[in-house]
Amino acid sequence: MIAKTESTEPEALPPPLYPDYLPHYDPLESVEMVGPFEHDEPGLRADKSCPNLLKGATQVSELSPHCGTEILGVQISKLSKAGLDEMAYLCAERGCLVFRDQDFVHIGFEAQKEIASHFGPLHKHGWMPHPENGPAEFVIVYDSKDDLRIRKSWSRKSPIQFHVDQSPELQPPGLTFFCMLESPPGSGGDTIISSMSRAFDRLSPSFRRRLEGLTAVHTTANPIAREIRDNGNLAVLRRPITKAVHPVVTIHPVTGRKSLFVNSSYTQRITGWDDEESDMMLRFLFDHVTRGQDFACRVRYEPGTIVVWDQRCTQHSQTLDYEAGGRRHAFRLTPLSNVPIPSKIEEDDGACARDNERVILNLC
Ligand SMILES: [Fe+2]
Repeated sequence: MIAKTESTEPEALPPPLYPDYLPHYDPLESVEMVGPFEHDEPGLRADKSCPNLLKGATQVSELSPHCGTEILGVQISKLSKAGLDEMAYLCAERGCLVFRDQDFVHIGFEAQKEIASHFGPLHKHGWMPHPENGPAEFVIVYDSKDDLRIRKSWSRKSPIQFHVDQSPELQPPGLTFFCMLESPPGSGGDTIISSMSRAFDRLSPSFRRRLEGLTAVHTTANPIAREIRDNGNLAVLRRPITKAVHPVVTIHPVTGRKSLFVNSSYTQRITGWDDEESDMMLRFLFDHVTRGQDFACRVRYEPGTIVVWDQRCTQHSQTLDYEAGGRRHAFRLTPLSNVPIPSKIEEDDGACARDNERVILNLC
């Protein structure tokens, strides 16, 4: 009996489905920063019952109690301005919204930009690629056998890193569009999105009061250093290091809720604290967010899935858990929003005393 010979040739990768959205890396390119600008918050104009957003919806379901709502039967590309305002409102309430089978991915660069610009002027990234013949406002996420930059940058460390995109901007992003073009076969490549309102609420009242009134330095220095380390002369450095000081606890302009606003990608130090004190506090807060699976949701993608998240009340992390070489191709549009609003230390409303009482009762 003759044994069947199996080919040892690696399986050829099919060509990308969206060649116009392939990443372009130009080490010599530069872009201008956006702003400052007057932010006109769309969520404040919305009808809170969301009639324009949800009129064609066939299903609306919560992904978890504290974060995430999936809406089926609605095409983002067909929404009126009132529908987009309602999207901003509902996203502020729920942290993120998931839409499936979106024709948005086929409407072209300019129409995509126009819809995203409803929420604010679009950010231009300092080092992530954009399409070669497409606007600089597009951030391309392309992980594939034919481009392993992302894999390389995350080799030798956990891919789980919760963050706010571009928090060192003076006016950081609000609503953000993440549009999946191709996802790896089978499962994998999900995004974990976590509610920073709930992350704050879950701390004890006296601890929350300690955080309010603090500020922290956010900077792109570390990600830029990694871009240089990983890519040397081919590093893309379109803008100088961006730096801003933001409140540690912020208020959302739409919901009025407080959120924790420090993240492990960009927050460098708490202003006015010694290094050891700042390192200890930030380490605790980053761990609190990473452990907080009880206030997070996990979004699984299919081609045509669009996730919209509000960076002012959430953080997110990639998972990068699928086999290296599998293709994951997406683009992001990132409208900027308001200068972060500080949460002030409030008069003692008795919350600390009530919390102490609760602890004593639980111990008895
Ligand atoms: Fe991100």
